Amino acid sequence: MSVVVSKQQIIPSEYLAMSEELIAEQIVEKKQRFGDELLILAHHYQKDEIIPFADEIGDSLQLARVAAANRTARHIVFCGVHFMAETADMLTSDEQKVYLPDALAGCSMADMANITQLEDAWEILSEQFDEAIIPITYINSTAAVKAFVGEHGGVIVTSGNAEQILKRVLENNQRVLFLPDQHLGRNTAYHLGIPLAAMALWQPKRTNLVYEGALSDLRVILWQGRCCVHQQYTVKQIKQLRQEIPDLKVIVHPECPIEVVLAADTYGSTKRIIDVVAASPAGTKWAIGTDNNLVNRMIKQFPNHQIISIDDTAFSCITMNRIRLAHLLWTIDEIEAETDLQQVKVDPQTTESSLKALDRMLS
Ligand code: 13P
Ligand code: SF4
Repeated sequence: MSVVVSKQQIIPSEYLAMSEELIAEQIVEKKQRFGDELLILAHHYQKDEIIPFADEIGDSLQLARVAAANRTARHIVFCGVHFMAETADMLTSDEQKVYLPDALAGCSMADMANITQLEDAWEILSEQFDEAIIPITYINSTAAVKAFVGEHGGVIVTSGNAEQILKRVLENNQRVLFLPDQHLGRNTAYHLGIPLAAMALWQPKRTNLVYEGALSDLRVILWQGRCCVHQQYTVKQIKQLRQEIPDLKVIVHPECPIEVVLAADTYGSTKRIIDVVAASPAGTKWAIGTDNNLVNRMIKQFPNHQIISIDDTAFSCITMNRIRLAHLLWTIDEIEAETDLQQVKVDPQTTESSLKALDRMLS
């Protein structure tokens, strides 16, 4: 399976020499000129400078839905990471083009499960278990992995719908391979009542399954992947903050390790984090465990709440941060010049297979 990625990786230096005001002015003017034909999507973890220019800001699920529903825009610029642009390309029509402003904006978690590793794992696990296994992949995965999942009766989830979808699969007594984020898989399964003893860890580099007890008791096999941003938050930090700040409420993203999620009051996707904080009474004190670009924006957005990061020294997603305002202007200029430099295009066969799993999710 081949996936065509964007052709150009390095932004020309003249864009980097421009002032932010001039870049902003040009983006506004060009956006007006394109009108409905240009749609700019931005994930919640994008830098502040990108947000005012986005037509839609959202979590992975929201943005996938927007892309799937839009048939007006001929050009969709995705300010996010590579798997998000790939997903948008698969969900849009052949007449629509999707662009990623920096081709190097990947996701290190998605890269932790490549298709060869998945094929090896599938062969070994299928031999070990008598009953069929259902593959479930987090949307943070490559198009090739999504295609494999689509072809093997599986489904794609986001952090916003993982619980709903996993519940449905587990209710049918099916055994699950969840990839690539062990933490989202473990947190979701645990909250659905699956004991930790019924979960195993698949180590892709060692092609090894780690578990306790009987193989036949295993319900969920977790891929050993993780997010470098969310693994920074610890129980120790939460305990310390609770000691210092009475009545503190803690909310974290489900990509955090389970002990952190259990030490928090609640957890959820980036959209749920925003919604829960917005719905809480004024004056509520919140400590948030997710990317600090979003937390810092929420601090400004909700002045009536007392919001802090669980760790304000934690680094933000390095790849999300690659996209600067200059990249956005450069991308729009290249669209105008019809070079397709930053276009992300998934081949038709991969798209067809992935859509089976994506459609199961969206339906
Ligand atoms: P959301 O599903 O909340 O958008 O998160 C995506 C992501 O990459 C978090 O690290
Ligand atoms: Fe990937 Fe983590 Fe960045 Fe999300 S925050 S895009 S999971 S590396």
